[in-house]
Amino acid sequence: MAILVTGGSGYIGSHTVVELIDAGYEVIVCDNLSNSSEKSLERVAQITGKKIPFYKADIRDRDAMNAIFDKEEITAVIHFAGLKAVGESVSKPLEYYDNNINGTLVLVDVMAKHGVKNLIFSSSATVYGSPAFIPITEECPKGQCTNPYGWTKSMLEQILSDIQFADKEWNVILLRYFNPIGAHKSGLIGENPNGIPNNLMPYVTQVAVGKRPELGVFGNDYDTHDGTGVRDYIHVVDLAQGHVKALKKIEEKAGLKIYNLGTGNGYSVLDIVKNFEAATGVKIPYAIKPRRPGDIATCYANAELAEKELGWKAQNGILEMCEDAWRWQKNNPNGYDD
Ligand code: NAD
Ligand code: UFG
Repeated sequence: MAILVTGGSGYIGSHTVVELIDAGYEVIVCDNLSNSSEKSLERVAQITGKKIPFYKADIRDRDAMNAIFDKEEITAVIHFAGLKAVGESVSKPLEYYDNNINGTLVLVDVMAKHGVKNLIFSSSATVYGSPAFIPITEECPKGQCTNPYGWTKSMLEQILSDIQFADKEWNVILLRYFNPIGAHKSGLIGENPNGIPNNLMPYVTQVAVGKRPELGVFGNDYDTHDGTGVRDYIHVVDLAQGHVKALKKIEEKAGLKIYNLGTGNGYSVLDIVKNFEAATGVKIPYAIKPRRPGDIATCYANAELAEKELGWKAQNGILEMCEDAWRWQKNNPNGYDD
């Protein structure tokens, strides 16, 4: 009896594997390593004392997926595998639709054929587009996405909902993540972006460690308290624990459920700079740059539904998120290449 974690050697996946093992689950990972290193799982083994069975496989490879489901006794799948670079998705839409949508279709088909109908899916606050209201509840209508990556999440939510509607044996939980940052307290696993980071926190930590001269702040003329973009940053370990709670809900025959995983707090880009400096004592030089296309002013969650129905609430504050992101970066300036 095991949980299959697709994309389990990636950033959120590796942290979730740790929390699953801590909660007593058997875990199997499948990843094509297109955006991660198997070394993350060696580190997970160091943290948990357990070696995690690993399949290097692409979720689009039906034979490989069939072989995993034939061999292992899988009861549920936590599905992280996917491409996630917003900008890249604009220039490579076909790759994104193929990898994320086609990959998920193959995965769920193989699952159904093996009688495994329990799925937790990594969705995103991006499905709300420019949100109709804030704080964003799950009732907030889905919006227009500004890039193919976002559309893959929005479309997959619909596809998985339709599958569950047609066959009530399916239990599907769609988790809409806000902005995951931070790292495991051990400093052994963390976010390991390829090349120039797209996201704020890895950029900040790379400035802090001296890899980049300064942070570019994308716009200071938004309608927010200091003009810079406001987001709901959530510690990746809290996010990972949300998956363990969602798995318990699946075990109670959840049907179809959708939950926001955020903290309910909004921080601006400059708030993040200040909190990072306060948490670490490291100064972050920055320069104001033009707005980034596709960005919205403000996005933060109302996360009460997850608290009510899953018994989950984010525990770590912004200073802990900054401290933990910094510990990982400082100890591993080149990520898993160190
Ligand atoms: P990540 O890139 O670190 O992890 C994704 C993993 O999936 C990688 O290890 C990659 O090698 C693997 N992968 C990609 N395509 C695959 C395929 N076809 N077959 C097998 N493995 C494949 O990203 P992450 O930040 O850990 O994100 C995990 C999931 O959460 C993704 O689906 C992402 O879209 C979603 N998400 C992330 C964020 C965020 O800000 N990090 C926010 C919302 C949603
Ligand atoms: N920002 C900067 N400078 C940078 C990077 C980001 O000022 O170098 C700003 C952005 O303009 C934005 C904020 O920091 O105001 C956060 O930006 P991120 O790129 O870290 O995060 P986003 O909110 O744009 O998007 C992230 C993920 C998406 C996901 C979304 C919601 O990248 O995949 O959160 O979950 F959909």
